[in-house]
Amino acid sequence: MASILDQLTIEEKASLLSQIVWETTELPCEDLEKFLLADGPAGIRRLKEYFDEDIYNTLPTTCYPSPSTYASSWNRELIHELGRHLGIEAKSMDVDVLLGPGVNLKRSPLGGRNFEYYSEDPYVTSELATEYIKGLQEEGTGACIKHFAVNNQETRRMTIDVRIGEEPLRELYLRAFQKPVTEGKPWMVMTAYNRVNGEYCGESRKLVGEILRGEWGYEGTVVTDCFAAHDLKKGIQNGLNLQMPGETGERLAQRIREYLEAGELTEEELDRAVRKNILLSERARQARKKVSYDREAHHAFARRTALESMVLLKNRSGLLPLQESDSVCVIGEMAEKPRFQGGGSSHVNPWKLETFLDLLRRQKPEVPYAAGYQEDQTTEELLLEARQTAAKADKVLLFLGLPEIYESEGYDRTDLRIPEAHEELLEQVSQVNPRVIVILFNGAPVEMPWIDRADALLEAYLPGEAGASALLELLYGRENPSGRLAETFPIKLSDTPCYLNFPGDPNAVRYSEGFLTGYRYYDTARKEVRFPFGFGLSYTEFAYSGLEVSQNPQKRLLEISVQVKNTGTLAGKEVVQIYVEGPDPKGGRPVRELKQFAKISLEPGEEKRVQMRISEEDLKIYRPGNSGRWVLRNGCYRIYAGKSIAELCACAEIEITSGIWPEITENTCLGDMIRIPGKWEILQEELAAHPRSLEFLTLCRNDNPLKISMGGLMSFQNLKRTDPSLKDDDIAKLLEKLNAEPA
Ligand code: GLC
Repeated sequence: MASILDQLTIEEKASLLSQIVWETTELPCEDLEKFLLADGPAGIRRLKEYFDEDIYNTLPTTCYPSPSTYASSWNRELIHELGRHLGIEAKSMDVDVLLGPGVNLKRSPLGGRNFEYYSEDPYVTSELATEYIKGLQEEGTGACIKHFAVNNQETRRMTIDVRIGEEPLRELYLRAFQKPVTEGKPWMVMTAYNRVNGEYCGESRKLVGEILRGEWGYEGTVVTDCFAAHDLKKGIQNGLNLQMPGETGERLAQRIREYLEAGELTEEELDRAVRKNILLSERARQARKKVSYDREAHHAFARRTALESMVLLKNRSGLLPLQESDSVCVIGEMAEKPRFQGGGSSHVNPWKLETFLDLLRRQKPEVPYAAGYQEDQTTEELLLEARQTAAKADKVLLFLGLPEIYESEGYDRTDLRIPEAHEELLEQVSQVNPRVIVILFNGAPVEMPWIDRADALLEAYLPGEAGASALLELLYGRENPSGRLAETFPIKLSDTPCYLNFPGDPNAVRYSEGFLTGYRYYDTARKEVRFPFGFGLSYTEFAYSGLEVSQNPQKRLLEISVQVKNTGTLAGKEVVQIYVEGPDPKGGRPVRELKQFAKISLEPGEEKRVQMRISEEDLKIYRPGNSGRWVLRNGCYRIYAGKSIAELCACAEIEITSGIWPEITENTCLGDMIRIPGKWEILQEELAAHPRSLEFLTLCRNDNPLKISMGGLMSFQNLKRTDPSLKDDDIAKLLEKLNAEPA
């Protein structure tokens, strides 16, 4: 390493700080090859030309379901396999690093890029994203987790200043990144466009310097999003390594030389930044391999991913699964012109795009079809044809959703409606045939004032190139739906917790809802929703019993087990969800939070005892301020096993004493301290060397209530004013002992 750096001129070092469109600079230096980046959390977006104005002019690749779709699988193993499949395809196209996964939380369902993110919840996001990264990198393709951090809207994304409190920042928005970074160990982290509390992410001392590099110990390469390097020298000093796409050659070298000459940047800082890119270049070179893969097999895996992800939301009177003998008709242009992926930088050119109508007609050539609409428009003729078609069939398969132009990277939605033309089509079709099965294609939640017109509703999201065949399997019961919502579907936009604070003003957006985003709000505020977080139906039924919870203090975790039985007549998969209600349910925090889940398969009548663990780390809350640390609170915890946040099937309580709570500070009153088990003994022992202070402690157990209050009101801040022997060091040692988690 030193030898390579020694060989480089300032100009050459500067050129390594910039990624030009998709690849870094090639240098005439041994072992220092360029490396190639390419998008796409759901497929490899490899431009046909080096740089093409048409960002959709890309090489054919497998188009997998969108992240919002595959997150609804809640299947860690599946997402690990998805990472592997993408890693292989990236290798085959000489891509060294795939720019994914995107793990930003879905703060508002209006977010234009929500299709490209996993969930409103950090736990399910972090679990699945960690597996995605591991799978990808097992195949020698680097992952680049993005967009670090708090990038939850497209409106003014390049400049918006997110004003957010430290606790929700840490416990929600950063927690979605923490395990994927510290355990997944992605080769790269891409910083977000926006500012957070005044700092641009790409140069943020707090986010990149203190948290990512400092607390999390991230060793890889930090890259900005496109054109998001504002103050490059500040970025370099805080841990940034690469700007994308940057400027090249003389211009950048000139800037770096000026920084050096002005003493605004040291050569050591420059070398430290460049060194990461040299390491990445070496890592990419070693991982390069020529691979080919079976496109049909990858296409089949895209189908399997879609099968595990689509969510059955309604199935009144068991309209589904269809029988082969059913007379059905197909209505809706999306049955022949599918909506299957999102717009923007994740958009790919599918290798083999299926259409539902084509596949169904291969089995049932006579199936009647009517387009019903074109994109988001309809006409009297199209509606008349749809009514006539619906009237001739027993059951109607009605394809509705959001046209691609409605949601994309680069802009947010302004409402949650599907096109009026689609709503009108449903209204008219349901008047001539009440047995309507709606299949919905959308990257993010929509309002459903029309829900009563649909007898059944299958959320297909954006199911990728093989979505049509997956849908066919699910509709005819050859596969049993097992997707669960990883985000809430609200009844209306104004019910959403950030409704009054999205997308903010021209300068800033205020996360005034704090922790209470998604189900954390609806569940805590007991707000009715259309479909709750974690919800999804099956063609069979599952029963829960025998929830058991115990604490394993040595391993610092909770052991949880629950019996689950398939009480129906079909094999199926269930997502067992564990929600935890911590102490102080009226403390302003969410009442319940998801802390574990497991997806299991059960044959009819089969039952399993599902064993799960929750680490104490996952139960901790963040205490800002000078302590700035994670704290496990003592107290009573309620553990729920459920099918969704709104269907909790079993509950067990456990008392945790291995933590601390409340945390003691130098302003905490003695009276409050001695109510916490174990603190009296510590205080008696430690204050023995400070008789004056010990007198006040002893007063706390006097018979006279007035004297008790005199002693009880004293804090260490006050004691040190009346007891010269009590120094700051003594207080620091006392606080450390009083706040130490029991061994
Ligand atoms: C875009 C996106 C980012 C993508 C990059 C390269 O602006 O924000 O996710 O990886 O540019 O296309």
